[in-house]
Amino acid sequence: MLPNKIGSAFLGMDILYHDAHNKPRTRIYLDSAASTLALAPAQQATQQFLKYYSNTHSSVHLTAKISSEVVNWAQKSILSFFGASEGYDVVFQGSGATSPLNRLAKGMRTLQKDKKIVMVSLMEHHSNDLPHRVHDNNVIHIPVYDKNGEFIGIDLDTIEALCKEYEGQINYIAVTAASNVSGHISPIHDIAEIAHKYGAYIVVDGAQIAAHSPLQLNQQDPARSIDFFVFSGHKTYAPGSPGVLIAKTELLNQLEPEFYGGGMVAEVSQYNYQVASQSFDKEHAGTINIPGIFMLASVLAFLDKLGMEKIYQEECELTEYLISQLTNIPEVKVYADTLKKQRIGAVSFNLKDMPHELLSLILNDYFAIAVRNDCFCAHPFVRECLVDELWDIEDEEDLPLYRGMVRASIGLYTTKEHIDALCEALKEIVTKRDFYISQYERTRDNHFTHKTFSINTNAHFDISKTLDQIFSPYFESCGA
Ligand SMILES: Cc1ncc(COP(=O)(O)O)c(C=O)c1O
Repeated sequence: MLPNKIGSAFLGMDILYHDAHNKPRTRIYLDSAASTLALAPAQQATQQFLKYYSNTHSSVHLTAKISSEVVNWAQKSILSFFGASEGYDVVFQGSGATSPLNRLAKGMRTLQKDKKIVMVSLMEHHSNDLPHRVHDNNVIHIPVYDKNGEFIGIDLDTIEALCKEYEGQINYIAVTAASNVSGHISPIHDIAEIAHKYGAYIVVDGAQIAAHSPLQLNQQDPARSIDFFVFSGHKTYAPGSPGVLIAKTELLNQLEPEFYGGGMVAEVSQYNYQVASQSFDKEHAGTINIPGIFMLASVLAFLDKLGMEKIYQEECELTEYLISQLTNIPEVKVYADTLKKQRIGAVSFNLKDMPHELLSLILNDYFAIAVRNDCFCAHPFVRECLVDELWDIEDEEDLPLYRGMVRASIGLYTTKEHIDALCEALKEIVTKRDFYISQYERTRDNHFTHKTFSINTNAHFDISKTLDQIFSPYFESCGA
């Protein structure tokens, strides 16, 4: 399996801390859907590049040329990685997928001015829902539960029925390629075909899929090609890299620039200006995040060498293992697992009668297992998943504690042993439930704190000490 072989290529796999029983433990990272760990070789390559770093707005001197070559290479390799070499352009924006999604929501109003409807699934992260709502669109939500309360995911018949109902009024359909709550993969090319049949565009939120599955945005049949694809570098083993939009060039050319400033204009006089004709220039006002872009493209080159199909197959296997092990524990409820469709490794669950935050704290404090809890910025979907359970809670005061879930998510470094450790921890928590609960206090604002234990973050990373240590040789030599 890949993780056993290349786990050491990732930073943070060797974090060690003493748990609440004062036992040393190596941290197990199961929070990759929030942010993946950093790929060290890509950081190393970026470190080497930084020696030659210059602004790409300079063009003549040696290092400016190197920086420009680096950005050109990154653009080409990113497009090629996602099967979008022909007829697509890449745009770098902000620090994650949220920026380009906002850019699209705002910009696409001019693409089909007379069409006011945007279709968004009820499985979306807020970043692929709220921007469409606020930019003067009429957002229609595609249901992901059927009338009987069964989870059906993103269903093609439902989409087609809505497209028929609102024919001629839909500007675009915005869907996630994989849910950050349940991991379910959406049939994005089938959705593209339906969208195009009804004169709408497709926007795909690829934040959760980019690092986990091979993709071919440009399809032989243009009707099945993706118009706009967005993802986050920090969920792709490259923290510090930007958010990315990959868009059909002909469509990108039609969008008004979002930002104005240096670098995106061909000509400026006192009373006039002419926007650059190249869409890459037009989309990038100001200096781009050159090291971050290089780091991200380096990660993708690394993943490409490993083979995305292999990564996908292995992660699917691991996800199945995770789900089967979790569902073997009678007190664990895994959400949306009745729909037997392909999933990436993001699995949400709860332990019976245990608030999600408390469970995550116990996993962190007693087992050194890092998971995410709460609603994962996908409140509508999480609410639908939880509706029956919340109904059953008798004490209203307890309701806020149960409005959420725990999510375990995997990356290239995740092993079966990590999943076994999680499941063993859950079993132990079930067995010694009263002990664990007794160790925590509920706060007035419905959080939990351990009565005696807290992790000393400074023992691991002390900002002042780190800076002092690194800076002091320089200051000593100049007497500062
Ligand atoms: C599916 C999905 N879309 C969008 C986002 C937002 O990404 P970012 O926080 O990188 O802007 C996330 C983040 O968790 C996500 O999971």
